[in-house]
Amino acid sequence: MSEKLHFDDKAAKRVEAMYASSDVVAQRQHVMQALGLRAGERILDIGSGPGFLLLEMAHAVGSSGRVAGIDISNSMLAMAQKRCAAHPWVELREANAMNLPFDDHEFDAAVVTQVYEYIADIESSLAELYRVLRPGGRALIVDTDWESLVLHTSYPDRSRRVLSAWDQHLVNPTLPRTLIPELRRAGFALTHSTVIPMYNPDYDPDTYSYGWISIVVSFVSRWSGMIKEEAKAWAEDLRQLGERGEYFFSLNRYLFLVEKPDHD
Ligand SMILES: C[S@@+](CC[C@H](N)C(=O)[O-])C[C@H]1O[C@@H](n2cnc3c(N)ncnc32)[C@H](O)[C@@H]1O
Repeated sequence: MSEKLHFDDKAAKRVEAMYASSDVVAQRQHVMQALGLRAGERILDIGSGPGFLLLEMAHAVGSSGRVAGIDISNSMLAMAQKRCAAHPWVELREANAMNLPFDDHEFDAAVVTQVYEYIADIESSLAELYRVLRPGGRALIVDTDWESLVLHTSYPDRSRRVLSAWDQHLVNPTLPRTLIPELRRAGFALTHSTVIPMYNPDYDPDTYSYGWISIVVSFVSRWSGMIKEEAKAWAEDLRQLGERGEYFFSLNRYLFLVEKPDHD
């Protein structure tokens, strides 16, 4: 089976729970600080998902600003709509990052967090990102490099099999390491980049990795054969390691802030 992760109702709810954890709250603080939004700005969130960031950006730009979110998942759009219902300057549309339903130069800034790793055609997606920003506008991108994963497990071979099945949930599990030259080729100038670690030395419901384990099991369990049972056993081992105080998870996400030159 090579089907990618679909953000249907169930998957969207799992992502929402994981994105409410302290680790992802801290990631949004990094993002907001790097973006430095001002009142009245026009912002686009590409692949806006459950809408946590939309809401924070809506507060930052205020009612004189505009926050647009697009996503290909109706389940995600419904969740974001509900979350932002009290802020009429937030608008949501079903659309693909590769073909944005906006005019040239419509936005002062754009964010794309944990989305480009799911998209095969990065070149078209970055061309669209560039097009909709005004000259001098900025874009912030966050993606995970899944080869940075460090996970303690009692059964390394089983863990490798489960994680290699998991790698198929997206198109490019190591996108960050090649994204800077891709961004430059698209015309952007890099102004800042940093690493955002998801570091969990404890098995704790209020962490990124706790929610991630159930998403892996649910994704891999759609496969037939041995791997389904292996995924459940893999998760149970992690839980037991947690009970014994032997749990260890670390994973890197990377943040890139770029600017579109003043002249177009
Ligand atoms: C892991 S979630 C991240 C959500 C949100 N950006 C965040 O960080 O909270 C990935 C989101 O990207 C959306 N997505 C995936 N491919 C997309 C595409 N080609 N165009 C627009 N959205 C896409 C998914 O539906 C999902 O909502």
